[in-house]
Amino acid sequence: MSSDFEKFAERLQEEILEDARKHYTETVIDNWMHPRNMGRMEDPDGYGRVTGPCGDTMEIFISVKKGKIIDCKFVTDGCGTSIACGSIVTELAKGKSLDKAKEINQTVALETCGGLPPDDEHCALLLSNTLIEAIRNYER
Ligand code: FES
Repeated sequence: MSSDFEKFAERLQEEILEDARKHYTETVIDNWMHPRNMGRMEDPDGYGRVTGPCGDTMEIFISVKKGKIIDCKFVTDGCGTSIACGSIVTELAKGKSLDKAKEINQTVALETCGGLPPDDEHCALLLSNTLIEAIRNYER
């Protein structure tokens, strides 16, 4: 049996989710609440770190084999949208050749997540820029 506090916490979470659904797609909310590929990577083949104009920093780690990204992870101190985009972009990058992964730009990230409110679109750009930086780091 759940306590009054647990019931309160559940109700609060439901209210936060209901409010989020007014602005964000289910894909964004799912990737925000259950982010894939979040965490650091030991000994990555490529590493990118970019701080956006908002002041948030994104880091991406890639592992490359035979010209393909076989693993991709991210960490961020940024907003919930950056967490969702980190999850989406790293999922998109995994299994792709480096050339194909370079095509994962802001537009692709936005299309994949079903769009973001205009004020949050820069979060997707931060992700795609960081992925490119990680790929360039590998190529150097
Ligand atoms: Fe900075 Fe979203 S507000 S990444």
